[in-house]
Amino acid sequence: MDSYKKLLLANKAWVQDRISIRPDYFEVMAKDQTPEFLWIGCSDSRVPAEDITGTEPGELFVHRNVANLVIHTDFNMLSVLQYAVEVLKVKHVIVCGHYGCGGVQNAMSRKHLGLINKWLRHIKDVYRFHARELETIKDEGQRLRRLVELNVAEQVQNLAETSFVQRAWLTEQRPEVHGWVYDMQTGYLKEIAHMSPGTHLEPIYEFEFNDKTGNGQS
Ligand code: CO
Repeated sequence: MDSYKKLLLANKAWVQDRISIRPDYFEVMAKDQTPEFLWIGCSDSRVPAEDITGTEPGELFVHRNVANLVIHTDFNMLSVLQYAVEVLKVKHVIVCGHYGCGGVQNAMSRKHLGLINKWLRHIKDVYRFHARELETIKDEGQRLRRLVELNVAEQVQNLAETSFVQRAWLTEQRPEVHGWVYDMQTGYLKEIAHMSPGTHLEPIYEFEFNDKTGNGQS
């Protein structure tokens, strides 16, 4: 059997399974979504957001890209963030990296892999910001693990630098922003960084909003 056919068969079994537990499962699910969490994770196939957090459909609003980056010119990520924060009104934004991340690993090397290098260059910047600390770590595996953690912490910072998050902090005292790392070898999540609403950034990154509602502003 073609491997993709297995997915379609599994889908049929999954539908039956859900209906057997709750006959109106899909009816209820199709009505609306009110997720409490925005998850920004890596595209890596081994880090399935719902599975590792024990969440069900409807609980996580998800954005994934290579190495879970928050880039302030990425309209894809920004659209997801704006919608999650301003329309869905999520209470938590979680950036989740993972040890053994190929994106971070390649960024730490000098390999040229084509277009992806332009994306990964943001991680090389993270390396440069923390070069002094990273270069005291002699073991390459340990250095990579630390860069994965620092990369997550930087993305938490990047989120706090967005106008969407700052405005929601100011007007609605949410969302909490979390940075986690998933350890594929143990299955556990590790908390790396956390920012509560109202955390002050370096002044250069703090916006002064002209009006408290911010309607029409991005
Ligand atoms: Co990864």
